[in-house]
Amino acid sequence: MTLDVEKIRGDFPILARTVSGKPLVYLDNGASAQKPQVVIDAITNAYSHEYANVHRGLHTLSNIATDKYEAVRGIIARFLGAPDEREIVLNSGTTEGINMVAYGWAMNNLVAGDEILLSVMEHHANIVPWHFLRERMGIVLKWVDVDAMGALDPQVVIDAMGPKVKLVAITQVSNVLGTKVDVKTICHAARARGIATLVDGSQGAVHMPVDVVDLGCDFYPITGHKLYGPSGSGAIYVRAERMAEMRPFMGGGDMIHEVSKDAVSYNDPPMMFEAGTPGIVQTIGFGVALDYMMGIGMANIAAHEDAISAYAASRLEGLNWLNVQGQTPDKAAIFSFTMDGAAHAHDISTILDKKGVAVRAGHHCAGPLMEHLGVTATCRASFGMYNTKAEVDVLIEALELAHDLFG
Ligand SMILES: Cc1ncc(COP(=O)(O)O)c(C=O)c1O
Repeated sequence: MTLDVEKIRGDFPILARTVSGKPLVYLDNGASAQKPQVVIDAITNAYSHEYANVHRGLHTLSNIATDKYEAVRGIIARFLGAPDEREIVLNSGTTEGINMVAYGWAMNNLVAGDEILLSVMEHHANIVPWHFLRERMGIVLKWVDVDAMGALDPQVVIDAMGPKVKLVAITQVSNVLGTKVDVKTICHAARARGIATLVDGSQGAVHMPVDVVDLGCDFYPITGHKLYGPSGSGAIYVRAERMAEMRPFMGGGDMIHEVSKDAVSYNDPPMMFEAGTPGIVQTIGFGVALDYMMGIGMANIAAHEDAISAYAASRLEGLNWLNVQGQTPDKAAIFSFTMDGAAHAHDISTILDKKGVAVRAGHHCAGPLMEHLGVTATCRASFGMYNTKAEVDVLIEALELAHDLFG
């Protein structure tokens, strides 16, 4: 089965709008994806007919909201291939998920001098929480580089797994270069050495089928808004053995068993890690988004995006004044570039916007990678399941215009 892109486009109302009088060509999916009507309807329905706080109520609406909210745990487990839905912690997205690992796991299992191994292409969400531990506990951050093509050789990561490395935290797909990382080889090598692994799935889970057991990772955070779901939704898979090593990191309602003046006892995991009123409706919408993706089929989405990626790579290669960062074969459909001449990434993106093309310009929350590449900013075109080759052509025309103006 292949993917019917025209039918999918019809499911996303925003794709019918114009920008600057031109049909919208939305190529900012790496930052956040658009939402299909089923997700919008689920949100409207939840607020219109089924809204109440979850878990604590004994009335009809609370029970409906709780059932719908809790069902998402199972949907996420299925989406990620997690064997047990109790290995899924619901949260607001990857940033919260990684901070939970930093405070809930690393703070309780690492000591001063222990090392955390990171690649230079990590997003700040997978860097700054580890800097906190460096500042507060004397944890050492150890970095591995990508090569000239933007590839991360798993052997380089494995060679860096010295005796002090306690955690390897690496992205599955670079949000800047589109590089796909062989995280399976890395995770299995780490497991054999007793090293914990966090695979940042923020981009990977969007573009390819994921099976966390096959990957062999301990922590796998995802973020709902990039997966065609609402912002403020997300989850993290935590392998049961690692969950048993964790302590709660945020205190409040819902995560407790009993509280008195002198003592507190905690709810069972994963609830122990879910303090306070959650993003109820966001999470319900997230579940609908994942069901929508699984209905299309992750393998079909991956095949479609791989074809778009190959086409975009070949068209962009024809622009000899454009410097595409990251040239690995088989990369995800994410392209960052700078232009010869004076044009700043922000100027290019403004010109593209006049042609209806939405791209992102800046450092993409990847300071160490920008430093590695020797640039301060790039333009990034990132594709999703609803993008077409015709939209690649519009991007190319808009880039040619920008080059004529600034080049
Ligand atoms: C690779 C990667 N990791 C983490 C994040 C952070 O996700 P969020 O802001 O949804 O928490 C992003 C978002 O751009 C990302 O691309």
